[in-house]
Amino acid sequence: MIKYFDNAATTKLDSEVLNEMLPYLTENYANPSSIYSVGKMAKEAITIARMKIAESIGANVNEIYFTSCGSESDNLAIKGIAYANSRYGNHIITSNIEHPAVLNTCKSLENMGFRVTYLKANSKGLIDVESVRRAITPKTILISIMFANNEIGTIQPIKEIAELARENRIYFHTDGVQAMGNIEVNVRDLKVSALSMSAHKFYGPKGVGVLYVRDGVRFARIQDGGHQEREKRSGTENVAGIVGTRKSIRNRSKRFRRKQ
Ligand SMILES: Cc1ncc(COP(=O)(O)O)c(C=O)c1O
Repeated sequence: MIKYFDNAATTKLDSEVLNEMLPYLTENYANPSSIYSVGKMAKEAITIARMKIAESIGANVNEIYFTSCGSESDNLAIKGIAYANSRYGNHIITSNIEHPAVLNTCKSLENMGFRVTYLKANSKGLIDVESVRRAITPKTILISIMFANNEIGTIQPIKEIAELARENRIYFHTDGVQAMGNIEVNVRDLKVSALSMSAHKFYGPKGVGVLYVRDGVRFARIQDGGHQEREKRSGTENVAGIVGTRKSIRNRSKRFRRKQ
């Protein structure tokens, strides 16, 4: 039997999660965009998942977008906000300890004319809020600092950075992919503009990302196609994966309640 220990890289699919997913792979595998009854049932499963996931992180239902992974959620948040707000400025602040999903997204925006400041973490692996303050310019449109680090496990002062961003009317995205499995995440309390998640980090299936984007945040779609995800992310939804994500988030919330 394989012994697996690297729960930061990925986690085992919970058997309860798998059981909830199976009917959407074997019985009702309809396309949720179909207008006949089984299609509507698949759509309904997505709607319920969106409601439950929103509830568990303190979001509104219309603030949740499903993607294919954490990397895609990071791309959609950062590129989406950058593209939609480029007329207000071209400067982005991030850190040098971000996951490649954020770092390489920022690099590709640099190639398109955006300017990016990569803040250095201090000797404790933390991003100093004052260094964020100093990096802000009148052209800054977005700050993206991860919540919990995937290699050294440091938890950044997200609430304070969000407050600073709000004072300066700058959008703030946080990569919450590692936080979601391990610490409480409540977007209403954190007051971030956008937060990325990935189900395979908290005993859910691979191939499902979630992006929270606060109502009113201007962001553009980066993938063209059909009308799914309220025009923000085209592509036939991974219904089974989304249902599994809902279940794994619910189980995760139960674990946190037990700990408190
Ligand atoms: C902090 C962080 N962000 C983003 C990702 C990318 O997530 P995914 O593997 O779902 O694309 C990971 C995955 O390791 C991660 O640890």
